[in-house]
Amino acid sequence: MSADAQHPVVQTARQGRVLVVTIDNPPVNALGVGVRGGLLAAIAQADADPEVAAVLLVGAGRAFIAGADIREFGKPPLPPSLPEVCNRIEACAKPVVAALHGPALGGGLEIALSAHYRLAMADARLGLPEVQLGLMPGSGGTQRAPRLMGVKPAVELMLSGRHMGAQEALATGLIDRLGEGADARAAGLAYAEELLAQGAGVRRTRDAQAALADKAASQAALGALKAETVKKSRGLFSPLKVIEAVQAGLDLPFDAALKRERELFLQCIDSPQRAGLIHAFFAEREVAKVPEAKAAQPRPIASVGVVGGGTMGAGIAVAALDAGLPVTMVERDQASIARGRANVEKVYDGLVAKGRLTPEAKAAVMARFAGSTSYEALAGVDLVIEAVFEDLEVKKAVFAELDRCCKPGAVLATNTSYLDIDAIAASISRPQDVIGLHFFSPANIMKLLEIVVPAQVGADVVATAFELAKKLKKVPVRAGVCDGFIGNRILAVYRAAADHMMEDGASPYEIDEAVRAFGYPMGPFQVSDLAGGDIGWATRKRKAATRDPKARYVQIADRLCERGWFGQKTGRGYYLYPEGARIGQPDPEVLAIVAAERQRAGITPRSFSQDEIMRRYMAAMVNEGANVVHEGIALRPLDVDVTFLYGYGFPRHRGGPMKYADMVGLDRILADIREFAKDDPLFWQPSPLLVDLVAKGANFDSLNRSE
Ligand code: COA
Repeated sequence: MSADAQHPVVQTARQGRVLVVTIDNPPVNALGVGVRGGLLAAIAQADADPEVAAVLLVGAGRAFIAGADIREFGKPPLPPSLPEVCNRIEACAKPVVAALHGPALGGGLEIALSAHYRLAMADARLGLPEVQLGLMPGSGGTQRAPRLMGVKPAVELMLSGRHMGAQEALATGLIDRLGEGADARAAGLAYAEELLAQGAGVRRTRDAQAALADKAASQAALGALKAETVKKSRGLFSPLKVIEAVQAGLDLPFDAALKRERELFLQCIDSPQRAGLIHAFFAEREVAKVPEAKAAQPRPIASVGVVGGGTMGAGIAVAALDAGLPVTMVERDQASIARGRANVEKVYDGLVAKGRLTPEAKAAVMARFAGSTSYEALAGVDLVIEAVFEDLEVKKAVFAELDRCCKPGAVLATNTSYLDIDAIAASISRPQDVIGLHFFSPANIMKLLEIVVPAQVGADVVATAFELAKKLKKVPVRAGVCDGFIGNRILAVYRAAADHMMEDGASPYEIDEAVRAFGYPMGPFQVSDLAGGDIGWATRKRKAATRDPKARYVQIADRLCERGWFGQKTGRGYYLYPEGARIGQPDPEVLAIVAAERQRAGITPRSFSQDEIMRRYMAAMVNEGANVVHEGIALRPLDVDVTFLYGYGFPRHRGGPMKYADMVGLDRILADIREFAKDDPLFWQPSPLLVDLVAKGANFDSLNRSE
C-alpha cells in the first residue's frame, strides 16, 4: 500500500497536452496516504507545467478507486487528508477529467466529484457506501453529490450505500457522459481532447446551482428523508449524520458546510459502530482464508445432488439452482419426490407471483432440476448434499448408498446440525470425501454456511466446499466437529442463560425486549416461536441422558411444549398469535406457567434491568465463544463473529460477539462471569482462553491475524 520509487502508487505521464494521472495501488486503488500525497503532487505538477492543458484521472487495474483505505481508520491520521486532496483537485487551474471504471466508491467517487468533468465506462459502479461502515462521506460527498443530482437522489444513494451503474449515473447528473469501448484511459483522453478543442474551462462542482435551485423543494425532500431515517435506522449513528451534513449544505456557504461535514465525519470515525462495522467488513473476507483453501485446489463442481426433499433439502436445491447448477434430487418414493419438487417450485412460484421472475425463467430453472427415487441417478454428480432426517443410523444408510453409487472423487456432504460427522465418514470406504455443509433455514435465503471439517477429510474437499459457498453466494465459516458446531453450540449456552433469567424473575417479554434494544431483530423467545418450540424440545430430550444431573435445568419450555404450544405454527408459544398473526402478543397464561415453575423450583423472583439481562446474555455467549476458539472448533474469534452476524441476527454494528467483548473489555466480561458464578459456579465457568487473554492484557482480535 505504500509508494516506492520503482512502482509509485500515483504515476503521471504527459500525453500531448493532457497529464494522465494513474492511481495504481492494487488491489482496488484505495486512497492510502501514498495515493493522497501522489494526487496532490500530480495536481501541483499540472498547474506548474505550461505544457499541460488538462488533467485526466484514471485507475489502473480493476477499479477507479474503491474508497478511502479502510485499514487506516482508527489509526492516527496522516497528512494530506482526503478533503484537502479533493479541494486541491477542484481548485486546479486546468480542467480535470475523471474517467471511471469498475468501483468508484466512497472517497473514490468524492475524488471524481471534485474533478471538473466525469466520464464512466459501462462497468463502472458508483456509490457512497460509507454508512455500511458506520461512516459518512467526509470529503465533500455530502455537499457535491446533492449539487449534481439534487437532494433526494443523493441522500438516497448515501443512505442505501448501493452501487449505481453508469447509465443511471448519467441520467441522475452524477456523470457527464458514458465512455465508449473498454479502455477508460483512451476514452478519458478522447474526452479531455474534445473539451480542450471546445475551449471548455474548469467547472467546479461547488459552483453548481441548478440541482439545488428550488430551496423549498430540497428542504422538503430532506425533511421527509430525515423522518424516514429516524424511523428506519434503528439505533444506527451515521445515517442521521448524513442528513445533518446535507442540511448544512442547504443552510451554509460551501466551505462552512464542508467544515461541518468533516466534524460529523470525525464523530462517526470515533463511534464504536464504525469499529464494529469495519471489523465485520474485514472478518467476512478473512473468514474464507482457511489453511485448506490455501493448500489445495478445489475439485470442479458442475453438478449437485441433494438427498431429501423436505424444507431443508428443497432450500439447498434452490440455492444450487440459483447458482446456475443442475440439481438431481433423490427421495425414497414417488410421493416424496413429488413433494420435494413441489417444495422447490413453491419458491419460484412465489417469485413469479411477486413479479420478480417470469414464468419462462422459472421453467428454464426447473429444466435444470431432476427428481429420482434411485441413488443411481447420482452416479455422475460432482457433489451430493444429504439432508434427510437427523438420525445417525438413517444418515449412515444414505451414505452407504452414496458410497455404492457415486463416482470416485465425488464430494459427499451431510447437512447435519449436530450428529458426529466423523462417525458418518468412518462408516464408508471413502472418508476423505466426507464433509459437513450445515445450511441454515431457509437454506436459499440464509447466508451462513458452516463448513464442518471431520478428521479424515481431504484438504481439497474443504477447498471445494469453500468454492461452492462462493458459487452459492454464502458466507462460509470453517467449523470443527462437536455437538452444535460453532453456532448452535454457543446458542445452547446463552439460551440457557436466558432461561435461567426467566426462572429467576425476568419475563420472556422483558428478555426479548432487552435483546431487541441491543440491536437484534428478534429476541430468543420470539426466535423459538418462529423456529418451532418442538425443535428445541427434541434437542433437550436428546441431551437429557448426558446432561450433568447437577446442572441447572429450567423446565418452562417443556411445560409449553407439553401443551402443544410450539409457537407461530400452532398459534401460541411464548406469545399468542391470533389468526395466524406473525407478531405475537404477550400471553398471561405463559406468565402464569412461568410463575408456577418458579414456585416449584423454590425461587423468589427478582427484577432484572435491561443492562443486567444483556450482561448475562452476552457473557454466556462470549464465554462459550472463547471455548469454541480454545478447542479449535472455530479457527479464530472472527469466525465466531461471522457465524453470529450471518446465522443468528447479531447486530452488525457491534461487529459480532467477540468484537463486542473486545470493545467492552475482556476484563469486564470475566469479572461479570466471576460475579455470576457466585450463584451458579457450574454454569459460569470462565473459559481458559478468556482467563489467559485477560492475564496477558490481550484481546480476541490479537488472535484474528492470519500468520
Ligand atoms: N480499503 C482497503 N482495502 C480494501 C478496500 C478499501 N476501501 N476495499 C477493498 N479492500 C480490500 C479487501 O479487503 C480485499 O482484501 P483481501 O484480498 O486482502 O481480502 C481486497 O481489497 C479485494 O476486495 P473484495 O471485496 O474481496 O473484492 P470485490 O471485487 O468482491 O469487491 C469492492 C470490491 C471495492 C466492491 C469491495 O471491496 C468494497 O465494497 N469495498 C469497500 C468500498 C467502500 O466502502 N468504500 C468506502 C470506504 S469509506
